[in-house]
Amino acid sequence: MTLIQKMTGWGLFLPILVFAFYGVVQEVQAGNFRYIRDQTYIEECGACHFAYPPQLLPPLTWTAIMAGLDEHFGENAELDAETSTQILQYLHIHGLGVAPASRMSKMMRNIPDEPPLRITEFPAFKDAHAVVAEQLELTALEAGFLSPCADCHRLANSGIFDKELLHPGYGPANWGGTKSE
Ligand code: HEC
Ligand code: HEC
Repeated sequence: MTLIQKMTGWGLFLPILVFAFYGVVQEVQAGNFRYIRDQTYIEECGACHFAYPPQLLPPLTWTAIMAGLDEHFGENAELDAETSTQILQYLHIHGLGVAPASRMSKMMRNIPDEPPLRITEFPAFKDAHAVVAEQLELTALEAGFLSPCADCHRLANSGIFDKELLHPGYGPANWGGTKSE
């Protein structure tokens, strides 16, 4: 291999290496929505549950969640300071209202001054899912009932929650008013 070939080789290889190092493993695009993944986030915050994409919550709420990891919904999910800072930065850059407008932006509607910690308690989220309780003939859904997004939203792992893209068998069209266990 000539020196010039070696140099071109590294010229291509190095940026890939650097890119991989920063953990940007995949990018999914749907309309004007872009989901930028972060490997550290997925490993640390996807260990106990679905790794909620950053655009589901405003930066203020992410800050509150990251500040209370020692008592995180009854679990200790504490991280070392460096990892925690890195994750918070990622969540802020791509948070709700910061990331470019997309179908998810409707989650911004009617956010109270002191937003809840749970995505599933945001007013717009509850509005969007009112139909779930209705179809299952439940008066109220238990806290955490809707937390495993990927159970119903087939492309949740790509950060896409369009109602047309639910798992087959899920959604009002299929439940049709029958009770589910
Ligand atoms: C040790 C396990 C554990 C780890 C690690 C963990 N969580 Fe959780 N998380 C939970 C539990 C338990 C709940 C409550 C789930 C329920 O009610 O079904 C929860 C709920 C949540 C919710 C609310 C979901 C909703 O209902 O809207 C968010 C947001 C969240 N976690 C973010 C994070 C972030 C960010 C990290 C990484 C810093 C993280 N979690 C790491 C256990 C964990
Ligand atoms: C039990 C099944 C179920 C779970 C779990 C669930 N969803 Fe949904 N979701 C639905 C259904 C059904 C609709 C569509 C309602 C309708 O037809 O109007 C919906 C609608 C939505 C919408 C509006 C989509 C649109 O096209 O307007 C968003 C955003 C959404 N869900 C996000 C989430 C997130 C985030 C989670 C997890 C925190 C989650 N959902 C958990 C069933 C579910």
